[in-house]
Amino acid sequence: MIDYGLLDRTGRHVVLREIDDENWRAVADIAPLDGQREHVAALAARYLLLSMREGVWRSLAVQADAAVVGHVMWARDEDDGTYWLGGMVIDGPEQAKGLGRAAVRTLIAWLAQQDGCEAIRLSYHPDNAAAARLYTSLGFQPADASEGDEVVAELSA
Ligand SMILES: CC(C)(COP(=O)(O)OP(=O)(O)OC[C@H]1O[C@@H](n2cnc3c(N)ncnc32)[C@H](O)[C@@H]1OP(=O)(O)O)[C@@H](O)C(=O)NCCC(=O)NCCS
Repeated sequence: MIDYGLLDRTGRHVVLREIDDENWRAVADIAPLDGQREHVAALAARYLLLSMREGVWRSLAVQADAAVVGHVMWARDEDDGTYWLGGMVIDGPEQAKGLGRAAVRTLIAWLAQQDGCEAIRLSYHPDNAAAARLYTSLGFQPADASEGDEVVAELSA
């Protein structure tokens, strides 16, 4: 469990948990709002499968007190040693409560402590205003790179 003692705006304790026999179904069912599906997968199940099949990304459950409320994943680029954050989805009805911010802050704090972490990268679609505002407010800055039609942003650890 990754726990930096952060709370959402309703006072719930936000932690990241490994995927296990207890939580995987709830994580798989995490879904963005309808209008957000053009930018992210329709269900977090897709990210779980990506983590399982390719062995590159590692999925985590976002948990608020006892409830599974989202999914996020991380990876290490073995070529340049950077760490990546991806698959950030907060379940539609749970959005705008401070969960996304708490989850990203928790993961970047933990990644910054991993071996050789000098930078954390992520990508988002330029039309995804919520993601752009969230990541920019946490210090991510545009990197000189792109991933398909997404912009890459970087935070120095
Ligand atoms: C992006 C996402 C993870 C944010 O999670 P959240 O729990 O709703 O966000 P929070 O309540 O913690 O808000 C964090 C910040 O995000 C930004 N934000 C959230 N919703 C927003 C919206 N509708 N419009 C603009 N900015 C928004 C704001 O900067 C906000 O900070 P503020 O409340 O201090 O202004 C969530 O909207 C989501 O799951 N979207 C669909 C999936 C997605 O786009 N993931 C990112 C892929 S790169």
